[in-house]
Amino acid sequence: MTGKGGDIGVGLVSVGWMGKLHSRAYQALPSVYPELGLRPRLVHAADTAADRVAYARDVLGYARGSGDYRDVLADPEVEVVSICAPNALHHEIGLAAAEAGKPFWIEKPVGRDARETAEVAAAARRAGIATTVGFNYRHAPAVEHLRELVAAGALGRITNLRAVFFAGYAAEPRGALSWRFRRELAGSGALGDLLSHVIDLVGHLVGPIAEVSALTSVVYAERPIPPTGSGSHFAVVEDGELGAVENEDYAAALVRFSPTAEGPGAVGTLEASRTIVGPQCGLGVELYGTDGSAVWSFERMNELQLCLGRGGPHQGYTTVLGNAHLGDYARFQPGPGIAMGYDDLKVVEAKKFLVAVTGGERRNATVEDAHAVAEVIAAAVASAASGTWHAVPAVPGATYAGPGVS
Ligand SMILES: NC(=O)c1ccc[n+]([C@@H]2O[C@H](COP(=O)([O-])OP(=O)(O)OC[C@H]3O[C@@H](n4cnc5c(N)ncnc54)[C@H](O)[C@@H]3O)[C@@H](O)[C@H]2O)c1
Repeated sequence: MTGKGGDIGVGLVSVGWMGKLHSRAYQALPSVYPELGLRPRLVHAADTAADRVAYARDVLGYARGSGDYRDVLADPEVEVVSICAPNALHHEIGLAAAEAGKPFWIEKPVGRDARETAEVAAAARRAGIATTVGFNYRHAPAVEHLRELVAAGALGRITNLRAVFFAGYAAEPRGALSWRFRRELAGSGALGDLLSHVIDLVGHLVGPIAEVSALTSVVYAERPIPPTGSGSHFAVVEDGELGAVENEDYAAALVRFSPTAEGPGAVGTLEASRTIVGPQCGLGVELYGTDGSAVWSFERMNELQLCLGRGGPHQGYTTVLGNAHLGDYARFQPGPGIAMGYDDLKVVEAKKFLVAVTGGERRNATVEDAHAVAEVIAAAVASAASGTWHAVPAVPGATYAGPGVS
């Protein structure tokens, strides 16, 4: 498996929402990017739930299934691995995949905290393997275009920004106490689950965050414990014993970005909530520069609001619709204004992963990026506890060292 193209044996750990989506992305890749000649072959999937293993084999088309992820890593036909397990397992499985020398595509957050994430990043570096992290919002064509505009100086110097991820998946007070609400299983709450995407997105667009002042809050202190073996992301339990929510529902941060060649770094506010009523998958960013501004939200992923220039007759925002000039849009749609969707972003991510694995261009978010995000979250946690500003240590190797660096 060197150089361009060829068959690539795929292993999968955990056949939940993300595991199924990674599988569909691998399956779509050859037809979306035929010239790459990449042919992922679904070889071996593992999940502790027998029905999920059966689904992987019988429906998704994996050749083999098992109940233990170690069997996937030990399978000689598995050349790359998708790690889509609950957060608590990412550290252990990431280290094991690196130890086995298998390049991996891992879901965020890569560890429950910065230490775990740094250890996975160090293990991957030692093993010399390519990695990719599920920061899928980077790949939205409007976001890719916005990054190019920022790097080219079209908005001038970015002075301030606002970015949020307002999700309603825990807005229902009877929403099940899934692993996401348990510190031992998930680590942080809205910080790791949602603000991680925001931090990666603004880092990707503007550069690294240098300092943070944050606060967190819990909206629902208790939730019903789901019956064993059930309890997905969105499950509601009508009756049942209540258990304590152990991590934050909401987080907000004031941030200062590192200075750039153009001058002082931007400042901004970041917010995330998992209990909000109204927005559902409301990941959004507003960038304000000395010569222009831009607004993008995932709920309207195919639209980019742009204001370029200070004077002239066209003040206010222009809405740019998805079109072939933006990112990988043309791979998915033949003409402008035809909506792409969330799942398409994972196809782009799969492409960036396998291109990097096979020695091609490195445009993938890596475990170093996950480590950089985890350090911002660690600083936010420390700041929320102390009530003071906290500096964020730089992470060498992160791909968002600044606009234009990839
Ligand atoms: N990038 C994104 O936008 C995005 C979106 C959703 C979830 N995620 C991340 O993806 C990961 C998985 O989330 P999900 O929503 O797919 O979860 P899910 O609950 O749908 O699936 C988790 C799966 O893991 C399996 N599992 C549990 N213990 C296991 C073990 N020891 N070995 C193997 N499998 C085991 C479960 O049986 C289940 O099939 C999480 O880390 C989450 O943060 C990322």
